[in-house]
Amino acid sequence: MKRDVKKILITTPIFYVNSDPHLGNLHTVVLSDYYKRYYALLGYDVFLSTGTDEHGDKIARSAAKKNISTQEFVDINAKKFKDLFDVAGIDYNRFIRTTESEHENVVLQIWNYFVEKGYIYAGKYSGYYSYSEETFFAENELNQEKTLSPNGTAVEYISVDCDYLKLSHLREQLLNFYKSCPTFPANRTNELEAFISKELKDLCVSRGDTSFGISVPNSNRKIYVWFDALINYLTVSGFEIKDNKPTYNGYWSKVVHLVGKDIAIFHGVFWPAMLMLLGCLPEDFKLLVHNWWIIGENKMSKSLGNIIEPNALIEKYGVTCMRFYIIFKNLINTDCHFEENEIISLYNSYLVNKFSNLISRVFSILEKRNIKVTQEKMNEKYINILKNAESDINQYLKTFFEWCDDLNAKVDINRIWESEDKMVIEIAEEINALVKFIDPIAPQATVEFQKGNFKIFNRII
Ligand code: MSP
Repeated sequence: MKRDVKKILITTPIFYVNSDPHLGNLHTVVLSDYYKRYYALLGYDVFLSTGTDEHGDKIARSAAKKNISTQEFVDINAKKFKDLFDVAGIDYNRFIRTTESEHENVVLQIWNYFVEKGYIYAGKYSGYYSYSEETFFAENELNQEKTLSPNGTAVEYISVDCDYLKLSHLREQLLNFYKSCPTFPANRTNELEAFISKELKDLCVSRGDTSFGISVPNSNRKIYVWFDALINYLTVSGFEIKDNKPTYNGYWSKVVHLVGKDIAIFHGVFWPAMLMLLGCLPEDFKLLVHNWWIIGENKMSKSLGNIIEPNALIEKYGVTCMRFYIIFKNLINTDCHFEENEIISLYNSYLVNKFSNLISRVFSILEKRNIKVTQEKMNEKYINILKNAESDINQYLKTFFEWCDDLNAKVDINRIWESEDKMVIEIAEEINALVKFIDPIAPQATVEFQKGNFKIFNRII
């Protein structure tokens, strides 16, 4: 009987298209590509989805400033994200846009399902709203003057008619759900627990004062942009309500959502709560949370106008070099200042000196001696750690380059340029095993090596 291949869905957040993509956006997508390749090495059938979040006031306001229709504006900007991800070699399976009819249809199915179940009720919302984050904030979360959100974006006091989604009764269920520790790093779970430690409030899921969004059936309200956006993960999973029951494809069993820390609450509290209401929480749900690129004291962000433009960097340093910088810095444990001079130095020290030079040193000797080496010699010590470094990019990088160091030391100690063939072949066989594991870090290396190019990367000066 054919064994079932394990399936996994990896997602990036979908990006607001109010302006051009920046380094912080490219960051999440490069990490997602790393994870796609990592899980593929472990034998998973991986589906990677990314895309754009196109509804909401923020976007309508930006379009109005440009004097073009909102739809035209989002078409232009969504393309910029897609083009960047293509240039960066992101191996995504689906680029979803929330203005697609397929997605709008799924959102409406879920809306109607919640209405039928009695989970949605009409109300009024008065409070502080950040248009930049499309998020409501409680008074005690704001600065003293009540002008800024905890993430430093401007808030306005608004009072609107809206609909609420009943979630408050799910607090205990969520706390139990966190016991299986669904976040990486694990301490992010504390933040989720803290957010609902006292209470979980029902979520405002529509607004009467919004112009660009999916219309609430039989009403002049629009569906709240976050309700709409989170559902993209189900749209890409082939979600449909059939005979009053949610159905989806096989990828929706092990799900990894990759997000920045600013949106961890939406993904770790409201999203699982919505899935609980729908009865389709995946068997294995993981939230990978990264920190921020910061400029001076602030988060790099479109709203603050302090962004680093990624296309120019890719053009200047090349895709592999930029991707390596992002993966090396990864932001999993800390925020990071962007230091342009580190881009080259990290690439030269690791990818060129430790990895690429090792390959050219060994394989140039074999070429001279006219020997072809196709066998692989496993090194269980390193391979086990690499295979168990699930989620932990730093562990993966550390182990991979330690393995390179070990092999480089073998080359030197055994003076392989003057040693007998057996020794050179043995090291080359181990390199054949090592090279498999470069794919998440630098996929271009896999391609070059398979073509028989043994001078993979050159120093950048
Ligand atoms: N549209 C929402 C996500 C909806 S997902 C259902 C959104 N979009 S965003 O464009 O503002 O941000 C998308 C991703 O980029 C988030 O993961 C965010 O953390 C990341 N980054 C935005 N600025 C960043 C930095 N300065 N540094 C690192 N990543 C940050 O939120």
